[in-house]
Amino acid sequence: MASFSGIVGIVFSCIFGVAVAQLSSDFYATSCPKALSIINDTVVKAVQKELRMGASLLRLQFHDCFVNGCDGSVLLDQTSNITGEKDALQNQNSLRGFEVVDDIKAELEHACPGVVSCADILTVAARDSVVALGGPSWAVELGRRDSLNASKEAAEKDLPVFSHDLETLTALFARKGFNASELVILSGGHTIGSAACVTYRVHIYNDTYIDPVFRQSLQSICKFRGPIDPLAALDNTADVFDNEFFKDLLHLKGVLRTDQVLYHNATTDELVKTYSNNSALFFSDFGAAMVKLGKLDVLLGSQGQIRTNCRKVNE
Ligand code: HEM
Ligand SMILES: *[C@@H]1O[C@H](CO)[C@@H](O)[C@H](O)[C@H]1NC(C)=O
Ligand SMILES: *[C@@H]1O[C@H](CO)[C@@H](O)[C@H](O)[C@H]1NC(C)=O
Ligand SMILES: *[C@@H]1O[C@H](CO)[C@@H](O)[C@H](O)[C@H]1NC(C)=O
Ligand SMILES: *[C@@H]1O[C@H](CO)[C@@H](O)[C@H](O)[C@H]1NC(C)=O
Ligand SMILES: *[C@@H]1O[C@H](CO)[C@@H](O)[C@H](O)[C@H]1NC(C)=O
Ligand SMILES: *[C@@H]1O[C@H](CO)[C@@H](O)[C@H](O)[C@H]1NC(C)=O
Ligand SMILES: *[C@@H]1O[C@H](CO)[C@@H](O)[C@H](O)[C@H]1NC(C)=O
Repeated sequence: MASFSGIVGIVFSCIFGVAVAQLSSDFYATSCPKALSIINDTVVKAVQKELRMGASLLRLQFHDCFVNGCDGSVLLDQTSNITGEKDALQNQNSLRGFEVVDDIKAELEHACPGVVSCADILTVAARDSVVALGGPSWAVELGRRDSLNASKEAAEKDLPVFSHDLETLTALFARKGFNASELVILSGGHTIGSAACVTYRVHIYNDTYIDPVFRQSLQSICKFRGPIDPLAALDNTADVFDNEFFKDLLHLKGVLRTDQVLYHNATTDELVKTYSNNSALFFSDFGAAMVKLGKLDVLLGSQGQIRTNCRKVNE
């Protein structure tokens, strides 16, 4: 299999004589050599300013890739002909980090106009966020292009919801090519960040597989019919990317129902135990799963476009 870099930085490989564009780790090496450092610098600054931002940027990558692939569609604002994914049930008043992406994009457009896609920004920012919070690094593959559209309907259909059971979660991940082990690994993303009362209320008031003292403490900040916004840290060390999330599950201290179902006399129990006791394995498996996530249905070559503003399709 031969491979060469085209003058515009597009990488092709010849498969049975047909040139096929593909992702590569040095995609911007000549077209925008500073791309990776610009993204990392901005992410590091944003995370220093607010640690939770690292979590918010990691989540953006998941919500982009699971909906029609990693194509930056999650970033598009609603217009007359685009149904904004930001307004999907799983995203509204919940997804964060759009301003950080705007800052990164503005800097990139200044350094190398029209070169770096918004989809790639999300992929790199997710990795840099995890690293900034003490987690593993992994090699990002680049060359994604940005979508011309978005779909609120697809977002609502494809993204998991806080009230789902293990069977539903497994089915949603299977539709994207991820098995139950990978569901557990990627759920480990909840080692950082926070959740609003509206999302964990169903677990702390309706489920029995929860530590009673932990339940009591969450109920004291999230009332049964009270405001929906009080935040709970998703694990006991939510500003650090570590394997605490899995330890918490063993102690029935998962914040979301969808977290605790991974350890509740389930087929996934053994893996939760493994990661709770082996952070190095969790780190390497998480990196590999993120690379796989980043390859979901990407646009390549001349597909889509490179948006100049991540919030809207180019004129
Ligand atoms: C397995 C199915 C999943 C469900 C049901 C789920 C659901 C949720 C919910 C309800 C929240 C709280 C949102 C809010 O209150 O505004 C949340 C936060 C978060 N999710 Fe997930 N999630 C899942 C998988 C993932 C995956 C695969 C990742 C990344 C690899 C991820 C990363 C995050 C992060 C980092 C946060 C915290 C965001 C912040 O603090 O801004 N989640 N998730
Ligand atoms: C979508 O609407 C915008 C204006 O809101 C317009 O510029 C654009 O051409 C439209 N795109 C398509 C594919 O219809
Ligand atoms: C981002 O920059 C920081 C230094 O500011 C560095 O420690 C970190 O390793 C960089 N991230 C990546 C993924 O290279
Ligand atoms: C969305 O855009 C992609 C290419 O960017 C295209 O393949 C797809 O058909 C479009 N979907 C809709 C519903 O227009
Ligand atoms: C999921 O797939 C990985 C390989 O990609 C494999 O190692 C693992 O055993 C699989 N898990 C399940 C539950 O099938
Ligand atoms: C608990 O379950 C009941 C019955 O299924 C439902 O009506 C109620 O809304 C749930 N409570 C919460 C806080 O989700
Ligand atoms: C699993 O089931 C057993 C027996 O019903 C119960 O004692 C145990 O607490 C359950 N484990 C979890 C994690 O719920
Ligand atoms: C963690 O692993 C060590 C060996 O690496 C083992 O001795 C210990 O029992 C394990 N602990 C748990 C809770 O599984």
